[in-house]
Amino acid sequence: MAKVLWSGRLEEKPEAEAFAFQASISVDRRLALDDIRGSRAHAAMLGKQGIIPGETAEQLDRALEEIARELESGSLEIDPEAEDIHSFIEGILTERLGDAGRMVHAGRSRNDQVATDFRLYLKRRVPEVCDEIRLAAEALLDRAEEHAGTIMPGYTHLQRAQPVSLGHQFCAWCAALVRDLGRFSDALVRLDECPLGAGALAGSGLPLDREKTARDLGFSRPSLNSMDAVADRDFALELAAAAAILMSHLSRFCEDVVIWASEEFKFINLAESWSTGSSIMPQKKNPDFAELIRGKSGRSAGNLVTLLTVMKGIPYAYDKDLQEDKEALFDSLDTVYSCLRMFRGMMASAKFNTDIMEAACTGGFLEATDAAEYLVKKGLPFRKAHEAAALVVRDCVDAGQRSIGERTLAELKKRSEYFEADLFGAITPAACVAARNLPGGPAPEEVRRQIAALRTEVRKR
Ligand code: ARG
Repeated sequence: MAKVLWSGRLEEKPEAEAFAFQASISVDRRLALDDIRGSRAHAAMLGKQGIIPGETAEQLDRALEEIARELESGSLEIDPEAEDIHSFIEGILTERLGDAGRMVHAGRSRNDQVATDFRLYLKRRVPEVCDEIRLAAEALLDRAEEHAGTIMPGYTHLQRAQPVSLGHQFCAWCAALVRDLGRFSDALVRLDECPLGAGALAGSGLPLDREKTARDLGFSRPSLNSMDAVADRDFALELAAAAAILMSHLSRFCEDVVIWASEEFKFINLAESWSTGSSIMPQKKNPDFAELIRGKSGRSAGNLVTLLTVMKGIPYAYDKDLQEDKEALFDSLDTVYSCLRMFRGMMASAKFNTDIMEAACTGGFLEATDAAEYLVKKGLPFRKAHEAAALVVRDCVDAGQRSIGERTLAELKKRSEYFEADLFGAITPAACVAARNLPGGPAPEEVRRQIAALRTEVRKR
């Protein structure tokens, strides 16, 4: 068992298996550089406040900088037997500096230390996730631009509903990603306070300068209350929720991709490099990447439930339960990060069968709503217009016809005398899409406006 920071009071030590059970080094090792940053700020503050000699503070700073460098180059390896990253770094300091190393923990507990490390880590990791959201959104917007005029069926209940465009649907996806971006950015604003100096829960009697450490670490302010500082994991919950919501979006997008890639739809041709084959069926080209992203949304939903459940019953202030926070959130952020990258690659390289998409707009009476609106424009009350168009659809079905345009004007007039010859030009798929040019609608020029608006949102910092 590696040296622990708490062996004085306890004569008996946990057995190896029990020690390993409560250790967290396998998870918190990724906080190493954040832990060192926190310790450097803390040591400098201790020196400035005269709590430790100025020379010792400088010694600590140099040693910590060196440890960071060695960890980055790989010449120093994290001991997998250490209890946690805090013990490991403090252990190395003490090994190298003797008593100077033993001074660094004055006025500090691992409780405020880990809360600080976790936030520091998130302050650098979450912007990387945000950048990936931006890149995925931009990739979709590029495809939307290309396909602002590519007519395709829009669905409700997975039944053909009304003609839209591929660009319109990509903008819909992008609007969801822009909200995701907002959620991650919002969480960053709220986590921007520094727990350091909160100690175990009750602060410290030493004359620490919390403003200084907060400032030096790039936080806006020290946290207001020392109990809250060590007990709060709202930021982890918020980020886990943001990740779970984002993954639910990617999962839905991927569900569409899987459906579109089927032989029955044939709307999308995924690149071969973004598909997989079968070990037994020689003909297969499977949308595994889309399926796996859809599947991984399960783990991010699970991580959110894990965190909520961990948090709901623990008495104030710090309890060891809180150690379970990192594994869940790290996994959620890793999942979001890799899924965004995979989704972007898959979508950027996909080809669309635009002829098949457009042809799918004929044959399912997707123009029926536009036929009803045609009658409304001629002065018929909507409910009557709806009924007349519905009866026309019935007539078509009875006659084995696939669209309203196959009826003669005389036949149409039996259902409403408001029908005129100009109907036929108004209910082609392209005309239906072009007519719906309200803000938010699928008309190509309106989709281009949405693309521009979404690009502005995505590029906003
Ligand atoms: N590994 C612990 C965590 O992640 C660090 C804090 C330990 N504090 C304690 N009092 N045992 O929460």
